[in-house]
Amino acid sequence: MEKLITSNLKLGIIAGGQLGKMLIQEASKWDIRTFVLDNDETCPAGSIASHYVKGSNVNYDDVYQFGKLVDVLTFEMENVNIEALKKLKAEGLKIVPDPGILELIQDKGLQKEFYRGNGIATSDFRLYDTVEDILAGIEKGEIAYPFVQKIRQGGYDGRGVAVINDESDLSKLLSQPSLVEDKVTIEKEVSVIAARNQKGEIRCYPLVEMEFTPNANLVDELICPSSVSIEQSEKAIAYASDIIELLNMEGLLAVEFFIDSNGGVLVNEMAPRPHNSGHHTIESIITSQFEQHLRAILNLPLGSTKLKLPSVMINILGEEGHEGPVMYEGLMESMAIEGVKIHLYGKKITKPFRKMGHVTILSSTLECAKKKAEQVKQLIRVKAWTKN
Ligand SMILES: Nc1ncnc2c1ncn2[C@@H]1O[C@H](COP(=O)(O)OP(=O)(O)O)[C@@H](O)[C@H]1O
Ligand SMILES: [Mg+2]
Repeated sequence: MEKLITSNLKLGIIAGGQLGKMLIQEASKWDIRTFVLDNDETCPAGSIASHYVKGSNVNYDDVYQFGKLVDVLTFEMENVNIEALKKLKAEGLKIVPDPGILELIQDKGLQKEFYRGNGIATSDFRLYDTVEDILAGIEKGEIAYPFVQKIRQGGYDGRGVAVINDESDLSKLLSQPSLVEDKVTIEKEVSVIAARNQKGEIRCYPLVEMEFTPNANLVDELICPSSVSIEQSEKAIAYASDIIELLNMEGLLAVEFFIDSNGGVLVNEMAPRPHNSGHHTIESIITSQFEQHLRAILNLPLGSTKLKLPSVMINILGEEGHEGPVMYEGLMESMAIEGVKIHLYGKKITKPFRKMGHVTILSSTLECAKKKAEQVKQLIRVKAWTKN
């Protein structure tokens, strides 16, 4: 990537949310020129990109024209118009990760077939096109309660996932083409972020453990190091490395796992990009996930993934019952606590449970970081601004 030393490298990012913003913050350290495609002029990355381009990530012409402006194209989300990417690739543009990988990962059904086909442990599943097909599957004994239905495309943050414990939940079934899988008795949810460059060098981050908000299915707290056993940790890291190698992928791959009640390590899903479960890496790991993504996609040497200090990450979410111009409470009080690092994404409008920012809390022990995280959770509130 000789352009890196000439200040001329033009990096395109689809789209301009908080992940794009944090990627640009790293790119600017290396004087890379960043281009961002997003429909919303007020998107988090819009104000800091070298060039903001208005357009949709799913529109063929918007993605194609955007690709024509840059030297290297990458993503902060999976939902991108694949046909446009394929055309750009055929015309010689460097797209990382490869559009074929995006196509596979966009579809949770194809993802599950990939795991099964490659001997990677995952909960048992079947694919169905309609609710009627699922009901017929139950009749035939193909599906047993309790089970989980997931739409194959477009789901995120728990939207597109229905947990069906018994007949009384059947009204929750979603009407899109979907996969139906066994409900796992989850002991812990962990994730591993792996990075790979064109040379085939691979590095994985230490496991992080996720705890979810019960009512919103969003990560409530994310801790590193995780409390899983060394064997479980090695297994998860080995799966993540195998998957990124099997995909022959360049870039970052975040792999989510369930640790089940028997101690088994099952792959849940993956994302080929920087990930919410890697935000802590900005402060707590020698190389942040965003810097590592750049290193991986530009075929640079990968950086150390060693943990500097134990950390807890919490999302700053829009308060329930508040929608409108954003107003934050408790930021100053939180900053007064040693080791508290606040990130605001710059979204102008708050909505219930919208991800408005995050806080990483560092301390010499995880117990101390957790205590401080509880304090911060009590202090920070995201409300809609009103005149009175
Ligand atoms: N098979 C399953 N058994 C039990 N819980 C599940 C299962 N699949 C998903 N979940 C729960 O739902 C959450 C969201 O599912 P996931 O597949 O990760 O979708 P999303 O793309 O919305 O993150 C998971 O983090 C987990 O808590
Ligand atoms: Mg998930």
